[in-house]
Amino acid sequence: MTFLKHAFITLLLAAVIGVAVAAWIITGGRFDVSVSAELPEPIHDLIHQTRVNAVRRQARDLQAPPVNLNEDAVLFEAVVGFESMCADCHHPPGGQPSALASGLNPPPANLSESARKRSIEELFWVTKHGIRMSGMPAWGSTHSDAELWPVVALITRFPDFAEADYGNLLETALEAGVEHHHHHEHHRH
Ligand code: HEC
Repeated sequence: MTFLKHAFITLLLAAVIGVAVAAWIITGGRFDVSVSAELPEPIHDLIHQTRVNAVRRQARDLQAPPVNLNEDAVLFEAVVGFESMCADCHHPPGGQPSALASGLNPPPANLSESARKRSIEELFWVTKHGIRMSGMPAWGSTHSDAELWPVVALITRFPDFAEADYGNLLETALEAGVEHHHHHEHHRH
């Protein structure tokens, strides 16, 4: 009985101290929310792994539809879509990180590497839903699945791209007069 009593009081004290420390940090504005603050490595790894696991779970019921990138119209839409929606943050193969990308923390993923590590469904899920507390937007709020799948299919080809391939492809698509357009479901100007 006295053992249980001691254990209970110890736990209670630990909880009270924990809440007090959290309150001291939170209400006192002592948590550094700046982008330039580096997180301690174990916390960084924990958040990263949480994200990777969550995306894997969310994407497990998805099934990529066939996307025929051998068709010029589809391929051109994909590259123009990537250029207008993604390239500012995720530099394409052969490109350099932009100033915008360099100022983000966590940094935008190198999508050639992501294409090797993740399934096409995982890539799609992130593209559609975004990542909370990072710069990664949810493109599903303005774009249909049908518009996003070709862009994601193009990313799965990135590992095979040579230095100049992306630039050449984009130029060809723009010369063919392909423009990026999508439905403005929520905002009409
Ligand atoms: C404003 C910057 C920004 C734009 C624009 C952007 N992203 Fe991202 N993206 C990010 C950031 C930052 C991350 C990393 C998030 C993290 O590590 O938690 C990310 C992560 C991702 C990932 C996850 C990669 C992985 O290895 O798990 C995918 C896939 C992705 N973006 C696809 C896209 C696509 C496709 C587009 C365009 C339709 C796009 N992003 C546009 C900032 C951006």
